[in-house]
Amino acid sequence: MPEIILRTEHLCKNFGGLKATDDVSLEFERGKVHAILGPNGAGKTTLINLLSGELQPSSGRISFKGYDITDARPEKISRIGIGRSFQKTNILPGFSCFQNCWIGAQSCLITSMRFFRPARHLRMVHRRADHALQLCGLAGKRNQIAGTMSYGEQRQLEIAMMLATEPELLLLDEPLAGMGSEESQQVTALLRELAREQTLILIEHDMDAVFSLADRITVMVDGAELETGSVEQIRNSQAVQDAYLGHADEEVA
Ligand SMILES: Nc1ncnc2c1ncn2[C@@H]1O[C@H](COP(=O)(O)OP(=O)(O)O)[C@@H](O)[C@H]1O
Ligand SMILES: [Mg+2]
Repeated sequence: MPEIILRTEHLCKNFGGLKATDDVSLEFERGKVHAILGPNGAGKTTLINLLSGELQPSSGRISFKGYDITDARPEKISRIGIGRSFQKTNILPGFSCFQNCWIGAQSCLITSMRFFRPARHLRMVHRRADHALQLCGLAGKRNQIAGTMSYGEQRQLEIAMMLATEPELLLLDEPLAGMGSEESQQVTALLRELAREQTLILIEHDMDAVFSLADRITVMVDGAELETGSVEQIRNSQAVQDAYLGHADEEVA
């Protein structure tokens, strides 16, 4: 039996009269890449914000490894093993790559590790930060000031900051957005590497990347789940094609 690492049940988020998340019940399997597609405004980022605790749901339930995390704050969610990246880059541009990752690791360990002596705590934060940089191919840029790097490298650093918290589940909001094709290929390769060990929930604009990375795809429209299935099922779905044609004048993510 596959393990369901994360589950949402009848999840809703209203902004005034707008149903940004509309009765979403999804299961995410451990070790898989589950992509979320949908036109602009479909509610993809809102869903990620609910899962990461940035937003509180209007109703419904979220559970992670069987524990109810519906009302948990972002710090707690990060500590229990859910990492997230943002649609817009979220690094500290005046700090080095290592310092950015250090802050990521520290923020996550700060309360869970309070029982350890400070020296041991610091060694662990250092080790996590360096390991994350290495995983993302940024070990050679350890001391470079983040703001002086290319946009693609900054996005890679953002993934490294998330990895420094050693998450079991990664929430990625358009990690390839705004990248050139070479950068995009590099980060796709990184995501494929991460997918060998981790569970990914991936929102991505780039259809080719989604089709090449995902094990499962959920298509959202107007806050609701339109369809969930394998890459082949989604590619061939008439409902998905109709939904996209209906939004043909908009960008599709
Ligand atoms: N904080 C907010 N307040 C009010 N409306 C919001 C807020 N965040 C998102 N929305 C609205 O919710 C809908 C879904 O937005 P979003 O989740 O960002 O979509 P996506 O990421 O799929 O493009 C949009 O109509 C958006 O305008
Ligand atoms: Mg979005």
